[in-house]
Amino acid sequence: MVRHSRACWPATFATKPTPKIDSKAARKLTYGLFLLSSKDEKDNGCIINSCIQAASDPLRLIICCQMGNLTRETIEKTGVFNVSVLTEDVDFDTVRRFGMQSGRDVDKFEGFTAVERSANGLYYLTEQANAMFSCKVTEKIDLGSHMMFVGEVTEAKVLGGDKSCTYDHYQSNIKKRF
Ligand SMILES: Cc1cc2nc3c(=O)[nH]c(=O)nc-3n(C[C@H](O)[C@H](O)[C@H](O)COP(=O)(O)O)c2cc1C
Repeated sequence: MVRHSRACWPATFATKPTPKIDSKAARKLTYGLFLLSSKDEKDNGCIINSCIQAASDPLRLIICCQMGNLTRETIEKTGVFNVSVLTEDVDFDTVRRFGMQSGRDVDKFEGFTAVERSANGLYYLTEQANAMFSCKVTEKIDLGSHMMFVGEVTEAKVLGGDKSCTYDHYQSNIKKRF
């Protein structure tokens, strides 16, 4: 058996290059695409890719919201949110409406009729979505650029059988480049 004396460890570490963080590595992670809806004085919502099932008993979701988003502010204030799981037939116009402008400037649900209210009073999508979840916030963690919310599911239903849209499908087939 080869035994190394403690004295040679620092020398070994010294030869290793400093680890680098290639931000492109994060693009290799896979995601879905969702409408995250909230309600304060008015209904609002934003597109997110950062939603996962984090636990099954009780059923819990984790979502991450950019700090500057109105949706983040509203969820912190009200403690509830809905998630609609978007399908592959989602229109780019829907992504643009909810994901590329802020509810601080516009009423995003104005003229958008494919919605119903869940038991918590928030909107969820009835088209371009195959499932919905209502959640109440149980924990939040400040991650710097984003606030992470853990939500316990209070209502969930399947809305259809169409395939869920992945972030990759959105980037390759739905996103319009101008
Ligand atoms: C494809 C796509 C994915 C997005 N993912 C997230 C996300 O995971 N979290 C987030 O906070 N914002 C995400 N956004 C950005 C928000 O949807 C966007 O900032 C929105 O305008 C915020 O609106 P609000 O200020 O009304 O909340 C995404 C946008 C797009 C188009």
